[in-house]
Amino acid sequence: MGQAQNGGNRGRFISFEGGEGSGKSTQIRLLAEKLNGQGIEAILTREPGGSPGAEQIRALLVLGETGRWDAMTEALLHTAARRSHLAVTVWPALSQGRWVISDRYADSTLAYQGHGHGLPVEDIRRLHRLANENFWPDLTLILDVPVELGLERAGKRGGAEDRYERMGRDFHERLRQGFRAIAEAEPARCALIDSSGDIETTAWAIWKVASIRLGLTK
Ligand code: TMP
Repeated sequence: MGQAQNGGNRGRFISFEGGEGSGKSTQIRLLAEKLNGQGIEAILTREPGGSPGAEQIRALLVLGETGRWDAMTEALLHTAARRSHLAVTVWPALSQGRWVISDRYADSTLAYQGHGHGLPVEDIRRLHRLANENFWPDLTLILDVPVELGLERAGKRGGAEDRYERMGRDFHERLRQGFRAIAEAEPARCALIDSSGDIETTAWAIWKVASIRLGLTK
């Protein structure tokens, strides 16, 4: 059992998922502001990363040649980074009653290394059970945007961390379908949000789902 599941008074864990340029970082900020308005101060974190060790692993994953790791090595690195993130950052925060919002979590491994790189999804689930106690968020918001638009937005953002952005259109199309399949298979945990429109429209769609599912409506 995940360490954070022990206490009855734990905080909530929310993850954001989606392809490149799906608008996660902006929407995380806006959700955090809305939660703040309700008196909830959430810790914002990200994967790969979110703890000092996992941030070091991140550099191995987001920089360099697209083919530098085979799919299983990549899945293991993401899983190792996640273990550190959970143990050092997420579980302690939740057990203190804090709320945590993570920019990506285990669904990214299912989508990128599974649907994208072709690793069997069941193998990735087994890794998650073994290494990360099969720990899942209370709510996962999957931001959906057409591949062309997402890559265009990501390209404008620039930056050096573009190893995955360079992986080709077909890869990104498989990712998108992968995320949509996850949302369909796990409707109680996940919500698929159309994020192809403007920032405010997407933010309200997210708030509608989050406030209902997390019991924040008055
Ligand atoms: P970011 O660009 O959203 O910060 O994420 C970094 C990259 O890492 C992104 O291109 C997706 C990729 N990734 C995976 O391939 N598998 C994973 O499990 C995670 C968490 C991220």
